[in-house]
Amino acid sequence: MATLRVNSPANSYSIHIECKMLLRAGALISQIAKPQRAMLAVDRNVYQTHGQILINSMRDAGFDIHTFEIEAAETNKSLDTARSLYAAMLDSKLERGSIVLALGGGIVGDLAGFVAATFMRGVPLVHVPTTLLAMVDASIGGKTAVNFTKPDGGLVKNLVGAFWQPAHVLIDPATLLTLNDRQYRCGLAECVKHAMIADAGLLEFLSENRRAILAKDLGVVQTLIERSAAIKVAIVERDEHEQGERALLNLGHTFAHAIESFADLDIHHGEAVSIGLVAASHISVARGLMNNIQRDSVINLLIALDLPTRLPRAVPIAALLQAMRHDKKIASGRLRLILPVGLGSARIVDDVPNEIIEQAWQSVSPPHAN
Ligand code: GLY
Repeated sequence: MATLRVNSPANSYSIHIECKMLLRAGALISQIAKPQRAMLAVDRNVYQTHGQILINSMRDAGFDIHTFEIEAAETNKSLDTARSLYAAMLDSKLERGSIVLALGGGIVGDLAGFVAATFMRGVPLVHVPTTLLAMVDASIGGKTAVNFTKPDGGLVKNLVGAFWQPAHVLIDPATLLTLNDRQYRCGLAECVKHAMIADAGLLEFLSENRRAILAKDLGVVQTLIERSAAIKVAIVERDEHEQGERALLNLGHTFAHAIESFADLDIHHGEAVSIGLVAASHISVARGLMNNIQRDSVINLLIALDLPTRLPRAVPIAALLQAMRHDKKIASGRLRLILPVGLGSARIVDDVPNEIIEQAWQSVSPPHAN
């Protein structure tokens, strides 16, 4: 068992990491809030495997718990679903001070977090993440949001949101045993990202323990979650509202968002981040921020973790560049990139020439493409 403390001017909270913790989640939550009405927003699939355990432990602790199931798809992370959740909370007579619990991955956490931030001007939120990505990243730091569908039908991701710090984050690594392997590996990409930003020792840990990690050895996985979450905690404590350093957490993401905009590539977010980490590393080598050996060690680690390091098929580089320019992290017309500096450090750079970005896309294209 481990507890990390997150100090925030808005609301300090603990992250509790413990295998089989779900069984006593109600008792843990009752230490921060008196037993009362609560709404459980839960991924429909996770409800089948873990929902009843959490509900029973909340009831045993004296909570009057209501349930709202969500099919975890980006299209459901919407104002419409938020509206249905507000209605369910009204029907269940939740009041100011009632708790919202989010059980699932990033989609459920972002949506339930947004509703918690806005229902009656804000009610306490408890994250119970069940994907590796949500455990080490999305549940920490208070970002909440829903996507927005424009009148022309286009989807703008995370357009409507708020910073709303949770009251508690409860992580049960054992829930990863029911997570599908592809989603699990997507979380590993975010762990590599955290290590590249701040902890070269964690890169070594990932490499040395790759087999145990892929086999979901819970002792090793718990250590990985603790170390990876600690990196995120340290960054969001120093820069809660992304005025500076927090942007480093977007390492690989400008490339990833461009890749994800090609829906027919059928690439999950974490896989796109993995390719993005490689592209950013190529640029760092070109800029003298990293040497070839360091870049190759990142590529070899991602391959060892069964993550992609190249696009699955050729995409015209001009189209990738265009998609990158649509990403929201453009500072006054220039592409702002996060680049690794050696291993375990990163920096924000906004003067990378186009040719170098093109070469990076070339390097992550299938061999002989373009
Ligand atoms: N996932 C990036 C952040 O929380 O800032």
